[in-house]
Amino acid sequence: MKNHNIYTLGIETSCDDTAAAILLNDKVLSNVVSSQDIHKIYGGVVPELASREHQKLIAPTVNTAIKESGIEKNQINSIAFTRGPGLLGSLLVGTSFAKSISLGLNIPLIEVNHMQAHILSIFIENNNQKPEFPFIALTVSGGHTQLVIVRDYFEMEEIGTTLDDAVGEAFDKSGKILGLEYPSGPMIDNLAKKGDPFTYKFTKPRVAALNFSFSGLKTGFMNFINKESLANNTFVEDNINNICASLQNTIIEILVEKVLLAVEMTKIKNIVICGGVSANSSLREKMKQLGNNNSWNVYFPNIDYSTDNAAMIGVVGYLKYKNSITTDLSSCATARYKI
Ligand code: KG4
Ligand code: ZN
Repeated sequence: MKNHNIYTLGIETSCDDTAAAILLNDKVLSNVVSSQDIHKIYGGVVPELASREHQKLIAPTVNTAIKESGIEKNQINSIAFTRGPGLLGSLLVGTSFAKSISLGLNIPLIEVNHMQAHILSIFIENNNQKPEFPFIALTVSGGHTQLVIVRDYFEMEEIGTTLDDAVGEAFDKSGKILGLEYPSGPMIDNLAKKGDPFTYKFTKPRVAALNFSFSGLKTGFMNFINKESLANNTFVEDNINNICASLQNTIIEILVEKVLLAVEMTKIKNIVICGGVSANSSLREKMKQLGNNNSWNVYFPNIDYSTDNAAMIGVVGYLKYKNSITTDLSSCATARYKI
């Protein structure tokens, strides 16, 4: 490669965050996330509104990312965008915008799989430590729950997935039942810090091998809250910290059990935990503890690169650019996209 300073513009619009970042090689120079608050009113993402918000936010978000990076737009060497998986209308905004930049600046276009990007976010230079291959990735987000063997940057094999809801949905839907704002994951995390995780017991699903299921937990949780609230209409209010701590503890136990099984089955002891739910403080603590007890190496991306962001799209763009993997203008946004 002739040029050793590669500037990548990353664009992410797969769900309800409009995000843009500039990277110099694998180092993040700017990382801008414009969250769409409009969905809070509805207690979840409304796809039609998300794509309209992306239309409004994409140009200013990209401009801010360029400005904050301190570079000029004609210094950008390539543009990386999220092709999928995600909400189609949302993906179309980022895909079309990226294509116009590629044409306008005459620079290569690079498509990125959002789930691969969550995993490869661990290779952003600003993170403390990086894993060696092969490693197991546990990707926990609002739309996915996956266990993946990562043999190389672009050699990944899914070995487990959720059969119904994603783990982030378990947090968000349970939060909705408790009357918490969307997305409730971060709030449950905070309230749980003040609660006792062993106050209430929720039934864990029995799912074969490395797959997950969270819809039964959500229904069980809803029935429990309804029953207790019928007997005492201030039950939730009075016990919110213990409820959140117990629910979170159950969710984490489900994840931990599957990671233990994945290590046993694959004999791989390098573990990367990524995706929005990996921002959870208790999950981080438990996984680190588990790593120490079992002599595993456990890695988390920095919090800024855990929830949806464009720096992770940019770093995949850089890795692909280095390997001359580019995309032509006929690339099409896709709601489903295998890892
Ligand atoms: O990766 P992400 O930003 O978007 C998707 O690709 O889905 O993940 C969003 C999910 C939401 O469900 C949110 O509630 C959850 O991540 N989340 C958390 C925390 N921070 C974000 N869940 C638990 N604890 C957190 N601290
Ligand atoms: Zn995501």
